[in-house]
Amino acid sequence: MDATQLRRAIARTPLAPVAAFPKRLARVARHDAKVLRASARWLVTSREHHNYTYELTKLSRHHLTWFVSVVCDIPVQQVRGYVAEIESDDVLRHHIEQATATAARRGLADKNVRYARRVGWYAIVRATRPAHVVETGVDKGLGTCVLASALLRNAQEGHPGRVTSLDINPEAGYLARVAPWSEVVDLVIGDSIASIGALDRPVDLFLHDSDHSRAHEKREFDAVEPKLAPGAILLTDNVTSTNVLAEHAERTGRRFLAYRESPANHWYPGDGIGVAW
Ligand SMILES: C[S@@+](CC[C@H](N)C(=O)[O-])C[C@H]1O[C@@H](n2cnc3c(N)ncnc32)[C@H](O)[C@@H]1O
Repeated sequence: MDATQLRRAIARTPLAPVAAFPKRLARVARHDAKVLRASARWLVTSREHHNYTYELTKLSRHHLTWFVSVVCDIPVQQVRGYVAEIESDDVLRHHIEQATATAARRGLADKNVRYARRVGWYAIVRATRPAHVVETGVDKGLGTCVLASALLRNAQEGHPGRVTSLDINPEAGYLARVAPWSEVVDLVIGDSIASIGALDRPVDLFLHDSDHSRAHEKREFDAVEPKLAPGAILLTDNVTSTNVLAEHAERTGRRFLAYRESPANHWYPGDGIGVAW
């Protein structure tokens, strides 16, 4: 009996899991060691304690550009152009670095500017040219700046728009309180449900990124539904945790798609973009 025949014979016996144990242990140990290395590096090099920032893996970036291409029905090359646009925007990058370095919360923020899935938000705004974007959940204002940059570029091409950004924390949004980005941002402090109820202009693009509990996410989509312009696009940052937007899409006769990002060199498994349109 040769080695292959022996392995096949063992595979048919109750001893099979015991015989496979060393190989299984080596595989899971390799995986866990990678996560532990990334975690240790992050603990030493990063200051962030929530709303982590990171680069996406190359493959995850490819998938994101295709995701936007399908949702917005535009060629993938055009999406790549939008992604290159935000990533080569040195004025925005420099502003974020400077504002972070002097912010009151600088001890809890990293100097490096890393947009992750937000480049997908940028590309969607560039592709669809909304007149009114609403973002719930602002934190430092990184996403708000990305959205505002896309709106400023759209305005240069004759398609002006504004973003209303809602947060319950009065200190939120410090990155987006500086011109030229602030010129297209309306920062509203208060609970998002009340703030959505008070919106007095139709919403073309809505992004949920505030309280990520299932109940609150659902309340936001229910609250914004009567405020939407025809053909509005709904986005959620919570798509890796809940099915709320998919259920909303089904109830309201929309299509739904989800993208899951993969961070590069980070222990965090990543978030994603859910879209209903
Ligand atoms: C994940 S962060 C937002 C991240 C941001 N969109 C970005 O791109 O970096 C979540 C934010 O939601 C805010 N928030 C939590 N509950 C809220 C509520 N009920 N209404 C409005 N904002 C809320 C928090 O204060 C926090 O700043």
